[in-house]
Amino acid sequence: METMQASNSVSVVVCAAENLQPGQRKIAVVDGVEIAILNVDGELYAFRNRCPHQGVEMIYGTVSGTMLPSDPGEYIYGCDNQIVSCPLHGWEFDMKTGKSLFSSKVSVGNYEIQEIDGSIVLKVKREPKSVSLKNFRCSH
Ligand code: FES
Repeated sequence: METMQASNSVSVVVCAAENLQPGQRKIAVVDGVEIAILNVDGELYAFRNRCPHQGVEMIYGTVSGTMLPSDPGEYIYGCDNQIVSCPLHGWEFDMKTGKSLFSSKVSVGNYEIQEIDGSIVLKVKREPKSVSLKNFRCSH
């Protein structure tokens, strides 16, 4: 796969944008680290494919919103399509920041990702020795 060096990060081309349509998911493996990549209604998200609780694969998590802080008796739903839940015990993470909803100290570890010139481009800290896509089955 193609890489490009920037000042403090390296851009890695994961796949062609046409291969990650809205609703589709990929797992990139960068130097052995699995990264879940999601296209949710055109928004791209990338985070570690490993729940910090017990290591379950986050690629199988459900994407939804969450109940926002509110007054007693009030119920306000928000952050729709921005929250991923761990498929095992349901820990929830904000895909924009990688942080869990219950503690700023717990994070699934997210990555910068964008579409550039028809390619899905992931930013990593250093030049990887290996980059590949992992096959998986997902009903999402
Ligand atoms: S393994 Fe993810 S919440 Fe338990």
